[in-house]
Amino acid sequence: VAKPAALKGATPRDLDKIAVIGGGLMGSGIATAALNAGYDVAIVEQSADAATAAQDRVAGNLASAVKRGKLSEAVRDATLARLTTAADFGPVSDADLVIEAVFEETEVKRSVFDRLAAAAPRDAILATNTSYIDPTKFTAQVPNPERIMGLHFFSPAHIMRLVEVVKTPATHPDVLATGFAMAKKMRKVAVLSGICDGFIGNRILGAYGRMAGYLLEDGASAQQIDGAMKAFGMPMGPFEMFDMAGLQIGYANRKREAATRPADQRYSRIPDLIVEQGWTGQKTRQGYYRYEEGSRAALP
Ligand code: NAI
Repeated sequence: VAKPAALKGATPRDLDKIAVIGGGLMGSGIATAALNAGYDVAIVEQSADAATAAQDRVAGNLASAVKRGKLSEAVRDATLARLTTAADFGPVSDADLVIEAVFEETEVKRSVFDRLAAAAPRDAILATNTSYIDPTKFTAQVPNPERIMGLHFFSPAHIMRLVEVVKTPATHPDVLATGFAMAKKMRKVAVLSGICDGFIGNRILGAYGRMAGYLLEDGASAQQIDGAMKAFGMPMGPFEMFDMAGLQIGYANRKREAATRPADQRYSRIPDLIVEQGWTGQKTRQGYYRYEEGSRAALP
C-alpha cells in the first residue's frame, strides 16, 4: 500500500518503548504485536490483579504462536522478558509512544489522558485505539496536541493486519509517519483516516451489521447468517465476529449516535435486546451464541 500524499517528506520518529494503557482484549493483543516487532512494552492496568491478567493474556497469545510452530520457546521467553506490567502510570515516564486501549467511554479516556499529560514525556506520542469516539473529545486538555493520533487496531490485534492511523486536525505529519513505520515493523498495513463515525472499517461494518440485524428480524438465525457469509468467503460470520469483539462497544455507539442517525439507517432492536440481557459475547460466555468450555452452541 502506497503512503498517502499527506505524509510525503514526513520523518518517522524512532521508537524503543511502547506503553499500552489497558491490557484487556485489545491492549494485550497490541502489546503482543509490539513485542513481536521488537519493542520494549509496558502495560498499565487498573489494579495488580488486572495487570497479572494482562500479562497472562500476552503469554497466552505467545504460547499459541509456539503451539502453531510460529515461535520457538526460546524466542517466546526472550520476547516475554521485554514486557513489564504495572498498576500505576510509572512506566509511561520513559515511553516514546503510548497507546490507550481502555473502556470505550469518553470520561474514562479523558481521565487517562489527564494522567498521561502529567506522567508521559512532553514529546511522547500519544495514541488512542478508540473504535468510534472523536479523539479530540477526550484529549483537548493535553499539551502539544500535534503528538496525538488514533491508532485503531482490529481484533485479534496481534493477528489482524489492518491499522487505521487517525489524523486529528492538529496531528503532525511526523507523528502519522511514525504510526505507519510502527505498523510496518509489526508487518501490518496502515491506512490514513480522518475523524468520522467508525473511521473506515467500523463505518463499513456498521452497514454490514445493520443488514445482518434485518435478516435476524426476518427470521434467519445467527448461525444460518454466519454460515451463509462464510460460504460467501468471509473468514467469520458477522455474529461470531461481534461475539468475539464484544457486543457492548457497538451498543454504546448506537446509543451515542441515536439522536443524529438518519432515519434510513435504522438498527434492528435485536442486538440491543441481547446486550440488555447482560450478554456481551464471548467474555460473558453468552452473546449470539452460548460458549461452554472450548465449544460454542447456537442460542435457541
Ligand atoms: P476490554 O474491556 O477488554 O479492556 C479494557 C481494559 O482497560 C480492561 O482490562 C480494564 O481493566 C482497563 N482499564 C479501564 N480503565 C483503565 C484505567 N483508567 N487505567 C488502566 N486500565 C484501565 O476492552 P477492549 O475490547 O480491549 O477495548 C478497548 C478499546 O479498544 C476500546 O476503546 C474499544 O472501542 C477499542 N477497540 C476494541 C475492539 C474490539 O474488537 N473489542 C477493536 C478495536 C478497538
